[in-house]
Parts: sequence; structure tokens; C-alpha cells
Amino acid sequence: MSRALATTPLPDRLPLPPQLDPQRLPAHVALIMDGNGRWARQRGLPRVMGHRAGVETLKRTLRLCSDWGIEALTCYAFSTENWSRPGEEVAFLMTLFERVLARELEGLMKEQVRIRFLGDLEQLPEGLQNLIADATARTSANGGIHFNVCTNYGGRRELVQAARHLAERAAAGQLDPAAIDEALFAAELQTAGEGDPDLLIRTSGERRLSNFLLWQLAYAELHITDVLWPDFDEAALLAALLDYQGRQRRFGGVEAAR
Ligand code: IPE
Ligand code: IPE
Ligand code: MG
Repeated sequence: MSRALATTPLPDRLPLPPQLDPQRLPAHVALIMDGNGRWARQRGLPRVMGHRAGVETLKRTLRLCSDWGIEALTCYAFSTENWSRPGEEVAFLMTLFERVLARELEGLMKEQVRIRFLGDLEQLPEGLQNLIADATARTSANGGIHFNVCTNYGGRRELVQAARHLAERAAAGQLDPAAIDEALFAAELQTAGEGDPDLLIRTSGERRLSNFLLWQLAYAELHITDVLWPDFDEAALLAALLDYQGRQRRFGGVEAAR
């Protein structure tokens, strides 16, 4: 019996739309939540109001993914490059992360979400680091969706750190360099233990990775939508999943015989 069933029953689940094949859902969805600033500007609001609206979108998206049976959701909340934004915006985001995390923890527990934060967390404000440590520990045994929040995350930094750690172990005589293979390397990444994303969704129409999960996205299907992140709703998620289900994944092979 799964842990989720063994503990408190989950609240009513939102049903999977009938257009979707439950057998062919992506197990792991990665998400670049982009376009908050533009969403606010379109409304004559300060950029930070877009971030605030974006939080509601993320809550809704997590709930839908969880209810529809997606096993893992990894979202990009703050990149190693986002520190270059105006200080006020960065400070607003850090405070927002703290508030939201403090406010939502009980709800995450109720929905059996297992939350983790990927990135260089030591550079975050101390209060946020404490909340992150608490939320990670408290939800670690939850049996529901794996929710990974990339905060001060950069794909290149992650790869460099993995390489450095392996080199240190080799230099210390603990590791034979010839033993380094893809599995060993992947185990050094922050996503260790999580399967690679099957689908990457990027909102707001930008066609780039912006240093997100450079190793892990090697064979992900890409869905880019013009919808700005705060407007990303159930219909937009459904469109992304239908797009995914219409793809043929070949992983370098040839089309499967019919
Ligand atoms: C994404 O929205 C949120 C973060 C990077 C934190 P943006 O803030 O990048 O919004 P745009 O791209 O300026 O519209
Ligand atoms: C990517 O969005 C980072 C996050 C969504 C957190 P950006 O808005 O920072 O990316 P660029 O600058 O357009 O590439
Ligand atoms: Mg952006």
C-alpha cells in the first residue's frame, strides 16, 4: 500500500480530462515559468505583481499535475542569473518565496506533496533557508507528487559542481576515473534519484533553455506556449499534455513498427 493511501485520505481529486490517455502521461514535467513581468506590464502594474499572480498559477498547476497522476514537477523559480535583476525585484521575490512557503506547508502536507529545492541554497536569505530545510524535512516521507523548486539554480553551475566533486574523490584515491559513467555522473546532480523530465513546458514564447536542467533535458519533448505564466491555466496545461501525447519519442532509434 502506498504511503498516500496509508495516511490521511487525499482531498477530492480533479478528474483527468477524457482527451488524455492516462497510460501515456509524462512521468516528470519540467516548467520554465516565464512572462510574469510582461503580464504585469500589460495591466499597467509593477513587475512584482506578475510574480504574485504567478504563485497562484503554480499552486493550481501543482494541484492539477498531482491530481492527474504526474509523478514529478520541477519548476524554475529563480536562476543563478536572476540576481542581475534590480535589487528591489530580487528582494521582493525572496520575501515572496518565504511567505508562500510558510503559508502553503500545511496544504502540501495535506496533499502529500514531497517538496525539494534544487540550487545553491546557501546564497539565499537565512530565513528562507530555514523554511526550506523545514519544508524539505517535513514533506520528505510524503507519498505524493515530487515537487522540485529550482531556486538559485543554474545548469552549468550544477554540472561544474558535479565534475568538481568527482575530481575531488578521484584525487583522494576514492574513485577510479574509469568508473565515471553517465549513471555515476547523474548521481552527482541535484536531481539525483529523479528520472529525467519527459516534457519541458516554457511559457511566454521564449525559445531557449536559459540554463535550466542542461543535462536532464537531453531527450525531453519541448512545448513552448505564448501564454504568459500567470495566465497558464487548465486549458494551457491540457494543450501541453496533448501536444506531448502526439509526439513520437525515438531516443535516437527508428520509428517503432506498427
Ligand atoms: C519569470 O517571469 C519569473 C522569474 C524569472 C522569477 P519574468 O520575471 O522573467 O517575466 P518577463 O520575462 O520579464 O515577462
Ligand atoms: C528563466 O526566465 C528563469 C526563470 C523562469 C526562473 P528568465 O526570464 O530569467 O530567462 P531569460 O532571461 O529570458 O533567458
Ligand atoms: Mg523572463
